[in-house]
Amino acid sequence: RHEWKFIQKIVEEVSNKLNHRYLSGAKYPVGIHSRVQYLTDLLSIETEAVCIVGICGMGGIGKTTIAKAFFNEQFHKFDGCSFVTSVREIAKGPKGLIGLQEQLLFDILRKKKNLNINSVDRGINVIRDRLHNRKVLIVLDDVDQLDQLNSLVRERDWFGPGSRIVITTRDVHLLKVLVVDSIYTAQKLYRGESLQLFSWHAFREGHPKEDYVHLSEAIVDYLGGIPLALQVLGSFLFDKRSIPEWESALEKLKRIPDNQIQEQLKISFDALEDDELKDIFLDIACFFIGSGEGDVVRILDGCGFSSKIAIRVLTDKGLLTINEMNKLTMHDLLRDMGREIVRKESPKELGKRSRLWRHEDALHVLTKHTVRAKQMNFC
Ligand SMILES: Nc1ncnc2c1ncn2[C@@H]1O[C@H](COP(=O)(O)OP(=O)(O)O)[C@@H](O)[C@H]1O
Ligand SMILES: [Mg+2]
Repeated sequence: RHEWKFIQKIVEEVSNKLNHRYLSGAKYPVGIHSRVQYLTDLLSIETEAVCIVGICGMGGIGKTTIAKAFFNEQFHKFDGCSFVTSVREIAKGPKGLIGLQEQLLFDILRKKKNLNINSVDRGINVIRDRLHNRKVLIVLDDVDQLDQLNSLVRERDWFGPGSRIVITTRDVHLLKVLVVDSIYTAQKLYRGESLQLFSWHAFREGHPKEDYVHLSEAIVDYLGGIPLALQVLGSFLFDKRSIPEWESALEKLKRIPDNQIQEQLKISFDALEDDELKDIFLDIACFFIGSGEGDVVRILDGCGFSSKIAIRVLTDKGLLTINEMNKLTMHDLLRDMGREIVRKESPKELGKRSRLWRHEDALHVLTKHTVRAKQMNFC
């Protein structure tokens, strides 16, 4: 394991030096190799025709992880590459679809100026003009609307021979409309793999400690092979070493109906030791995803928190990740869980919630003078 970490570090360093973007993957990868191999076979990597494959499956099942691992393995074979993360979020951002097109072009051409994209149609022309003779690798991660695909990869002849496009989405229907070459339905982890992943997080080894075998198996069975849940619950139990604490976690899981992954994740949030940690988690979920760690620490410390340590704790618990650019990221299901907690503080009255992260909501509350809470944070 140590050796593996060391090798990963070297690969990262070298790729950075070569100006290639190596994407950081799962902390304890399990069963990735066979899944990436399967994807590689679907993409018939040696043929000349442009090939598009979609990966679909529920949130937390590992779509992004498979796509990243595939990208890391293959990008050096192409003339240009782009891994567009969170397509759904960028499309909702200020630049919308144009923002997506700009990112794609910037990643591949490596220069920002003179593209002059002022409309989606113009963006499409630039993509076609600049990329039709390049062999490119494009990953569009987390697509949720057809217009996102149409403005980036609608026609195969926009890209040079041998180009490969991977799309991940929760909505298999989109892949059928775009007419992709193959659809890869991401599968849950097998039971053995699940136990292994859970154990890496709970014990820092690939199997449960002796006294915890039965409890671990029971917990893993409730988590149903979803990597995100295995990771969060495993990390949650890492510093819990008494059997009753484990039994109590199992009891909580038993009470949650099947497939309610957000409720499962919430066990870990509810157990955060103090309110400051919970507040910081919620602040990040509502306002700071994608922000630099240093900036967030400065802002939160300004509000009287000791956020550096808190961020460390949240990362250890698998509730937060710091990416290769030192930005805070969080899986959408965790983010949505956080926002749901805030929403539930007052489902009907916006003014009574502790945080408002949508501009429209903040404006509504301010113009209608409906703030009731003593303290409210705005984005
Ligand atoms: N095969 C795997 N081995 C280890 N961890 C995994 C694996 N697949 C996913 N994960 C972890 O589970 C979490 C959710 O995976 P992700 O790829 O983001 O899911 P999705 O994109 O389907 O929502 C991530 O934190 C990831 O690191
Ligand atoms: Mg994803």
